Amino acid sequence: MFEKVLETNNYLQKKVENRPKIAIILGSGLGDLVNFVENKKVIPYEEIPNFPVSTVAGHAGELVFGQINGVEVLVMKGRFHFYEGYNMKQVTYPLYVFKQFGIEKIVVSNAAGGINKTFNPGTLMLINDHINLFGTNPLIGKNDERFGPRFPDMTEPYNKDLMNKAKAVAERLGIEYREGVYAGMTGPTYETAAEIKMLSIMDASAVGMSTVPETIVANYLGIKVLGISCITNMATGIATKPHAHEDVVDIAKKTGESFCKWIAETISVM
Ligand code: HPA
Repeated sequence: MFEKVLETNNYLQKKVENRPKIAIILGSGLGDLVNFVENKKVIPYEEIPNFPVSTVAGHAGELVFGQINGVEVLVMKGRFHFYEGYNMKQVTYPLYVFKQFGIEKIVVSNAAGGINKTFNPGTLMLINDHINLFGTNPLIGKNDERFGPRFPDMTEPYNKDLMNKAKAVAERLGIEYREGVYAGMTGPTYETAAEIKMLSIMDASAVGMSTVPETIVANYLGIKVLGISCITNMATGIATKPHAHEDVVDIAKKTGESFCKWIAETISVM
């Protein structure tokens, strides 16, 4: 895998002159952030050697290089979900490439269901920790020490310093946010009411189908993580009606404006 990662990195290094140290992974419905990127250089995943191949028709996504508020960034628009049938190494492959490319910090975002009853659709939540309920771990297998240690520490999976910076920006801009634990489930089903009850007893505030694998691998590689959930719906049993993916995307888009402002400003101080 190390050689494959180097090959992908070489391709990107030749393809663009940008040398960002910050990457942003965009969650469902949060793609509008790319409108904040100046001097965009867009590379579709299909063109990137060794990038996971899309399992569904249409395009899987793209890497967008450019500047936000003058700061070089690499935006990953469209991520690989475990529920799509990608294995954990494929889901997290971009992180390995980012590390080689020189990325030091990453903003991981997602759409999530709200478990904390004081949340609403539209709440932005800083992720302060996670619970891995995928039933697997992206680092299972023979370890390559060139990437990271066999037993990575997870004391601070979401970097406190980055969280404090994001909080300061939110307060300055008057952006409302909450804070909490993100529970990562495989999906693709939404949770049952009993599962949400279990997650609430575990003290999870939000639930989603991504982010945990990427955050684990980022920590392993020594990339600092800032995590933000956009609460698009209240979770099963708390919500009064069945979930619809369209509503999730719709609320994410509506919340996108404050999300984008928050991220754009936070990047300048990261
Ligand atoms: N559950 C899991 N993932 C989600 C949800 C949810 O309720 N909303 C958006 N992503």
